[in-house]
Amino acid sequence: MSTVEVAGAGIDAFAHRFEPGAASAAPLLLLHGTGGDENDLVPLGRAVAPQAALLSPRGNVLEGGMPRFFRRLREGVFDEDDVRRRAAELADFVAAARTRYGLAAPIALGFSNGANIAAATLFVRPEALAGAILLRAMVPLAVPPKADLTGKRVLMLSGVVDPIVPAENVNRLAAMLRDAGATVRHEVLPGGHGLSQADLTLAKAWLTGA
Ligand code: MLT
Repeated sequence: MSTVEVAGAGIDAFAHRFEPGAASAAPLLLLHGTGGDENDLVPLGRAVAPQAALLSPRGNVLEGGMPRFFRRLREGVFDEDDVRRRAAELADFVAAARTRYGLAAPIALGFSNGANIAAATLFVRPEALAGAILLRAMVPLAVPPKADLTGKRVLMLSGVVDPIVPAENVNRLAAMLRDAGATVRHEVLPGGHGLSQADLTLAKAWLTGA
């Protein structure tokens, strides 16, 4: 279903966009959904964190020409070896970008496939992220590596009638993150897989409390 674009290593591993910000605001790592690119979430990132630096990579996996962050076998069924490998690759990119741009550990802001790679990265390479906002996420790894997420804050926003993410699945992800020590706030919003003004408002308020 997917083809893979071979990229470089470190900072060159991902085509990306970087928008500078104030050192006082936690940087955001913007992770788009399937078919998006590095430009997609920049307006959302700016809206929820007007002062923050924004680091926005484009997923390296192509599915029918649509960028993603890892391979899937079909909708909701993931190639978990690829998820682990791509999460590590993203963590390496974040480390290189922090050096290049002089950044603190970022908070991921991921939508759909981008939220799923953010959740995977929390388990595979916890040091890469200070926390995460997961918009319409689902469990990325059935049995994730044991991780200590103590001190990491995670906001999960899901849709009550999301046709892609069953409630059981997202509730399981929240439990997995809590079991690993993360401080998780999980809100179920009216609506489906698409984002609404409520996502923006809640994400902004949560970040302000960070
Ligand atoms: C995924 O593949 O990560 C999820 O099914 C969400 C999506 O991208 O549709």
